[in-house]
Amino acid sequence: MAVPTPMTTRVLPYGEDTIVQAAALIAAGGIVAVPTETVYGLAADATQALAVTAIYAAKGRPSFNPLIVHVLDLAAARALAAFDDLSLGLAEAFWPGPLTLVLPLARGAAVASLVTAGLTTIAIRVPEHRAMRALLAATGKPLAAPSANASGGISPTRAVHVVASLGGRIPLVIDDGATEAGLESTIVSTDGGLKILRPGPITDEALQHFFPGAGRGPVTPSSATGPRPAQEKRLVTAPGQLESHYAPAKPLRLNATLAEDGEWLIGFGPIAGDETLSSAGDLTEAAARLFDLLHHADANDRPRIAIAPVPHHGLGLAINDRLRRAAHRD
Ligand code: TXA
Ligand code: MG
Repeated sequence: MAVPTPMTTRVLPYGEDTIVQAAALIAAGGIVAVPTETVYGLAADATQALAVTAIYAAKGRPSFNPLIVHVLDLAAARALAAFDDLSLGLAEAFWPGPLTLVLPLARGAAVASLVTAGLTTIAIRVPEHRAMRALLAATGKPLAAPSANASGGISPTRAVHVVASLGGRIPLVIDDGATEAGLESTIVSTDGGLKILRPGPITDEALQHFFPGAGRGPVTPSSATGPRPAQEKRLVTAPGQLESHYAPAKPLRLNATLAEDGEWLIGFGPIAGDETLSSAGDLTEAAARLFDLLHHADANDRPRIAIAPVPHHGLGLAINDRLRRAAHRD
């Protein structure tokens, strides 16, 4: 893969003028970092193969890993993906918002095949964040956008995280403050019932609340109590789930109650730590702060990171999923 030529990365506050500049870059086949309600994304026109290549090159991402396509509304999604009753119901209940649907690619869908990495399915979502929506409206294109970090790194929840990871490799970051959810979208497939491929801000409980009758497989790799082989099988349908994602540069120890020598402890609830995800033990607050605190832990001079146990229910499933990946070493 070609190494991108170093460039100056501008950080501009969200606003009309910034969106005009960002849309011009995207129309010309460029890439722009833009906040969504989950994490910052690295967006390009999903219909331009070269633009999509530029995303992969800037991230250093293996090209078999498909990207999420963002569109303004359900009508735009239907031009790209084939919806069944279940996926339509989900879209109506949760869009715009942090839910990604993996659906069969619609016939003649105008997206570069690199976006889906040659799969016959497409991951698609309608985001809620004003900056991403303004960019979608200004470009009039579906936008492919993975998280705006170098491949394997921690997802960015602030513009400074994007610059730390991709500075010099992308021309523009639209800064609209910290993202609200702080975790990547929940990914589900509806093929043969509702299956959660990646836990996220839309919890299993929320999905069950809307679809109590929907048959679904084991919820998530991290919440499945069964043996490993069941996980490996699902990993094939969601290639990105296979990698050690969200990794800080330092080793990470989970379920820690006390810091050992040389460890920076991230607390939760009664375990205070050097910094805490949420002293009140609030999972929503913890999710929003998780990646920020991992960035802090990576940036200080202690050689290792430890993190307190996070309860395994509700949003805790998504948090523990990310932590398990962050602690994983190949
Ligand atoms: O919140 C989010 O989802 C953020 C923001 C920017 O929207 N995006 C994001 O994208 O997290 P990314 O590329 O970091 O993660 C996309 C995940 C990967 O694990 C990929 O393997 C999976 O979606 N994926 C994409 N297309 C798929 C498909 N057709 N089938 C199964 N999994 C797919
Ligand atoms: Mg990512």
